[in-house]
Parts: sequence; C-alpha cells; structure tokens
Amino acid sequence: MPRLEACRDGSHTVYSEEFGQFYHNPNGAVAESIHVFFEASSILKILEAGLPINVLETGFGTGLNALLLADYKLALGSSSTILFQSVEAYPISNEVARELNYGSFLEHPQLAAHLVPIFERLQHDSIEYQIIPGMKLQVFMGKMEDMVLPEGVFDFVFHDPFSPDVNPELWSNNVFKRLYATCKSDATMVTYCAATKARGAMAVGGWLVARAPGALGKREMTIASKQEDKLNAYQRLNEARLIERFS
Ligand SMILES: C[S@@+](CC[C@H](N)C(=O)[O-])C[C@H]1O[C@@H](n2cnc3c(N)ncnc32)[C@H](O)[C@@H]1O
Repeated sequence: MPRLEACRDGSHTVYSEEFGQFYHNPNGAVAESIHVFFEASSILKILEAGLPINVLETGFGTGLNALLLADYKLALGSSSTILFQSVEAYPISNEVARELNYGSFLEHPQLAAHLVPIFERLQHDSIEYQIIPGMKLQVFMGKMEDMVLPEGVFDFVFHDPFSPDVNPELWSNNVFKRLYATCKSDATMVTYCAATKARGAMAVGGWLVARAPGALGKREMTIASKQEDKLNAYQRLNEARLIERFS
C-alpha cells in the first residue's frame, strides 16, 4: 500500500512500494508541481486571459495538480471554464487521502477537503466531480492503456507517471502518439522527466521538444508542443536526430 511521507518543504508525498518511487520530488511536492506544471507550461497566462482550458493529466496520484489548478483559478479570479481529465489505475486509500496536508499550501485551504469524497468514489469507479464552479474533474479509474482518448480536445498535458525505468508503459512511442492525437493543434505538454529516451519517444510521437530548467535542484525538465512558438522561451532539441535514434 502507498504510504505517506513528508518532503523537505513539509508538504506530503506518497511512496509507492509497488513502483519503488515517490510520487513527487522529495525536496518539495507542492513546489515541484507549481514549477513543472504551472510555471513552465504557460497555463497561468491562459487562466488570466479567461480562456477555456482542457487539461489531460497522466497519473492522478494524490490529486495535488487538480487542487493547485482550482486554487490558481480562484486566486486569479479567472473566468476560464476548466475540464481536468486525469487517469489513475491504483488510487491511494481513503486513509492516505484524509491525511494529506495540501490545504496548508493553498491560498484556499478549504479545497483540500474535496480529496476525501474524490478518493472515496475513486476506489470503486471512474468519477466526474465539480471541484469549484467552472472547473470539472474527471478521473478515469483504470490503466491509461485502456482509456479511450477523444481526438483534438486537450490544450495541456501534464505528463506525470512514475519515471520511465519503472513505469515504461507510459513513456512509449505509442503513448506519445496517442497524447498527440488527443490534443489541439497548439497544445503544450510538460513533464518533470528529462531522459533522452523519453524525449525521443515524444519526438517519434510527433511532438516538438525542448529542455527547460528543472525544479528543486533538478537540472532539466521537458516541455513539448505541437506549435513551434510555444517553445520560443526554451532550448529546442533536434527532433529529427531523436526520431532517427528512437523510432
Ligand atoms: C508520479 S505519480 C502522479 C502524481 C500526481 N500527479 C500527483 O500530483 O500526486 C504517478 C501516478 O501514475 C499512476 N499510474 C502508474 N501507471 C499507470 C497506468 N498504467 N495507468 C494509470 N495510472 C498509472 C500511479 O498509480 C501514480 O498514482
């Protein structure tokens, strides 16, 4: 059973015995999520502009990214309507969900209370859940490999499985092809991972790929997009070379 652990910044993470890995950077779960998924992705600009946003997250884990997005929407007074679609094959227990201390790291601590009813329902089935007005959460309970993904729907992918060495099924060429197909033509995908093989799989999947500064002592993370100008602030990689090496 996954067990609760405290990161160096005091925020909780979970350790998975099955995968032999923490759900987040042990230096700081909340700080890492903010850096990788919110600051690097440009999602905050879209929230500020009040445009609709569809996010696909691969690995719901503790639900932290969903809470942070709801917290940003409220803090920015954003009028964006948000669909947050996630997937989880191995939900954390209700007991672990009850203990998570994310409320102390949010501007709107009351949001953390949603985790208990979310995980109570997720133990049994996929869920649809209104976190706040204008933000709907959907979690597919099952393996991402079995999830039917609609075409051309998502603006952002938060790619957040365990690392490629222990969770290779979510880092394959085919997964990144599927993620490409389910995204809109100007979509952006972000992940904490900087492994060359993962970047190669993204390039084979059709993504343009760039390196970005990593969170909390990690040198790099990866940002990918379907549209070149979304990567202007970052150092582009040579996709042709990656495709040659990894296809
Ligand atoms: C690094 S954790 C995700 C952290 C999460 N985003 C958060 O904020 O807490 C990776 C998650 O992916 C899930 N996972 C691993 N393989 C999966 C698969 N094939 N299908 C669906 N979920 C999977 C794990 O159970 C775990 O919850």
